[in-house]
Amino acid sequence: MTAVTCTIGDDTQLAGFESIRAWLNERYGIFYPPRKEDLLVHRLSRVLDRYALSSLQELARCIEAAQRPDVILAVLHAASTNHTYFFREPQVLDYFRDRILPQLGELPEIRMWSAAASTGDEAYTAAILACETFGRMEAASRVRILGTDISEPVIATAESGLYSQTHLEQTPTWIVGKYFQASGMGQSAIANDIRRMCMFRRLNLKATSYPFQQHFHVIFCRNILYYFEKVDQALVLESIYDVAEPGGWLLTSVTETVRDLGTRWTAVGGGIYRKLP
Ligand SMILES: C[S@@+](CC[C@H](N)C(=O)[O-])C[C@H]1O[C@@H](n2cnc3c(N)ncnc32)[C@H](O)[C@@H]1O
Repeated sequence: MTAVTCTIGDDTQLAGFESIRAWLNERYGIFYPPRKEDLLVHRLSRVLDRYALSSLQELARCIEAAQRPDVILAVLHAASTNHTYFFREPQVLDYFRDRILPQLGELPEIRMWSAAASTGDEAYTAAILACETFGRMEAASRVRILGTDISEPVIATAESGLYSQTHLEQTPTWIVGKYFQASGMGQSAIANDIRRMCMFRRLNLKATSYPFQQHFHVIFCRNILYYFEKVDQALVLESIYDVAEPGGWLLTSVTETVRDLGTRWTAVGGGIYRKLP
């Protein structure tokens, strides 16, 4: 297939680009400021190549017509940054393991949500830490973790539970030995009991309010907020608050600032917030 040269040099292309950029922001909260324009053009050019579309204008028309869900999913996947790995940002995870999990120990069911799960590394990390805290059999019977993301391919990877070495570089070797099996082609498979504790679904965080019947004791919303504008950050965090149990916890990245957004969450520490009981 011939690669389509994708630039926004003329007015028609520019109109197509602006329409896609606005659609991503309004519908999904994914915000590309002017300084990241080239990155978005580059990412969209992959979609043009894959679906043999001639221009950003044609892609914009395709999105508007809403008759090609495959193209729309490809744009969402291309526009999102899926970088993640197991045991990311240990300072928040240490608090989760040492201070939060022990407080949840008496509950008959412990519900957690990884709200921008990407390939599932965060959800499975939480499951592993629950196993280390409660014991493997106990955790398997009481801990339920939901992972959601806007991108379909990352959900498929999460469900497969297969990971390349780069996803495990920050994972202690003894954890890899205990919870993963070598699976050929340099990949490692998460253990079946850990996989069964987690389920993955597509969900758009911008589409508030969230359709959950049961609320969560711990919600991970990490390394996603800074792709949203402040107004959407606040909207998402308020909607997450609504589906947290009283006394429930919100864990963000330490570099994401929630304090200035005027939400109902109470700050406990860097990247750690609580819905007061
Ligand atoms: C950088 S990853 C973060 C993964 C993980 N939470 C972590 O901290 O390692 C951000 C994820 O957010 C997802 N995302 C972006 N916009 C979204 C939206 N509107 N709704 C749900 N997920 C979204 C992306 O597809 C991507 O997988």
